[in-house]
Amino acid sequence: MCGIVGVISKNNCVPILIDGLKKLEYRGYDSAGLAIQNDQGSDLQRARSVGRVVELEQAAAGLEAQMGIAHTRWATHGVPSERNAHPHISDSDGISVSVVHNGIIENHEDIRRQLMVDGYAFQSDTDTEVIAHLTHKNLRKGLPLLKAVQATVAALEGAFAIAVISNRAKRTLIASKKGAPLLVGHGQGEFFIASDASALVAYTKKITYLQEGDLVQLNADQALFLNAQGAEVQREIIESQLSADAVELGPYDHYMQKEIFEQPGAIAATLEMVSNASAVKPELFGAGAAEVLPHVQQVLILACGTSYHAASVARYWLESIAALPTTVEIASEYRYRKSVSLPNTLVITISQSGETADTLAALEHAKSLGMHNALSICNVPESALIRASNLKFLTRAGPEIGVASTKAFTTQLAALFTFTMVMAKLRGQMNAVEEKTLIAQLRHLPSAMQNILALEPQIKAMAQRFADKRHALFLGRGVHFPIAQEGALKLKEISYIHAEAYAAGELKHGPLALVDADMPVVSIAPKDSLIEKLKSNLQEVRARGGELYIFADRDTRIEETDGVHVLNLVDHAGHLSPILHVLPLQLLSYHVALVKGTDVDKPRNLAKSVTVE
Ligand code: F6R
Repeated sequence: MCGIVGVISKNNCVPILIDGLKKLEYRGYDSAGLAIQNDQGSDLQRARSVGRVVELEQAAAGLEAQMGIAHTRWATHGVPSERNAHPHISDSDGISVSVVHNGIIENHEDIRRQLMVDGYAFQSDTDTEVIAHLTHKNLRKGLPLLKAVQATVAALEGAFAIAVISNRAKRTLIASKKGAPLLVGHGQGEFFIASDASALVAYTKKITYLQEGDLVQLNADQALFLNAQGAEVQREIIESQLSADAVELGPYDHYMQKEIFEQPGAIAATLEMVSNASAVKPELFGAGAAEVLPHVQQVLILACGTSYHAASVARYWLESIAALPTTVEIASEYRYRKSVSLPNTLVITISQSGETADTLAALEHAKSLGMHNALSICNVPESALIRASNLKFLTRAGPEIGVASTKAFTTQLAALFTFTMVMAKLRGQMNAVEEKTLIAQLRHLPSAMQNILALEPQIKAMAQRFADKRHALFLGRGVHFPIAQEGALKLKEISYIHAEAYAAGELKHGPLALVDADMPVVSIAPKDSLIEKLKSNLQEVRARGGELYIFADRDTRIEETDGVHVLNLVDHAGHLSPILHVLPLQLLSYHVALVKGTDVDKPRNLAKSVTVE
């Protein structure tokens, strides 16, 4: 979702702004722009374009200044167009103000109405433009830029991160955040701002994460931080762990491909503390976990999208292995639903980014109902979700750039399985021998994953058969049903083929009516207690002429025949089977998308980090 970059430097900032925006492209966007101001304090200059950052780069050729703000826009209010692209400028009476913004201003209509009465004319359909005009109005009253922005922010309702420059304050960049991520990078005689650290690691690793309601004034040699109450505060500078290499594509064609193949390493890194030990401990989930977890009587898991599918797998594990009652909720539903809370509930939030607005709001809602113990399973160490939770487990997947989540998902599953083991042990459901066996299985996981990734050529061949298909069904049973859901989500988001997942037992309660020769049916067939029932479901499909693509464990004895394509997986992973079975589905979607020629890493209409509800 929208990306912000800002620079105040002694050198030309334009190449840094462009490079930073390129690093934020993965967040998803449909237009881009930048505004700059030189040290002479002459008028702001602006370049904007619809489409990719490379087009903005061309539009900005020849521009030069020491200070600027830049933005990739993911349309919320108003269509993607140059007119609606940020930065927005308010320019009259010799005062010009330029603003970039991520988030949504909920009361923008009221503010707009008043500004129109005051004589301001609007050039765009965005909610952002009110920020530019309101700040202009405050400057016109004689307020200095810092105070003018403070007054503007005080009038805004919603979740946002903003950056502002003006010809009224030379070498001054103001930024503020409330509900959307923003950080400050500390350079040598220069400062940066960005939506996430990936935009800045090539320039500095010294980062300050702004806190809720913070406002920062940057001059070339000083950063002044004010908290939500307007008091001057010191904010910690941390050393980002992100390496510049981690956000490079390397030898791969797409980030999604890179991230699929990084999974064995990501799982090994995530499980390092588990695989190298002989026993699992509550402390894996944070310093306070040993105190909290023994009292937990049920779990409520909140997440969105792919992370919700990880939560759904965990429900099967937690109830069957740890005998722990577990509820899983889509965060955007839970936050607005009247629900009943039970004592001794642990709230688990799962998120790659840790900035998903619905998940954050759902956690706050759970807390407001009295559930104060929160465990966050997250891939971004300093994210809002981690800060809002007293317990945490950091997945060590590294930056995930492809919009379609892959390695974040499997590392979430690894974390959730470890959590299941800890709870099973605490609840007397797992003895020492079982614990050792499961740890050995976790240790073997990376190499089992390698074996599956080696099947890519066969999966690539299968993908060709989906090129002319408009719909697909995904089937799974038990703990593999959420994996079927994840497979369907991957296919629809990057290949734009309509795909639905069903628990295989549901087939004849409706969806079987859809099955004919044009409806490919993808099925996960692990060798588990439900395999014979699944085979019957698959017969039902074949009897209606449906073409089957089956990812089967090696000794399920499902034969390849006319209309039945079978790919055998080498390893059995027992409880961990969902972590293996999702890999061929990721590869299938990736190769179908390649055949269809879609923009794999940046599928249309989607954003990586969904920071608005
Ligand atoms: C799908 C995908 C999304 C995210 C969802 C939640 O491939 O990536 O469905 O899983 O937007 O995002 P996080 O995990 O960052 O909270």
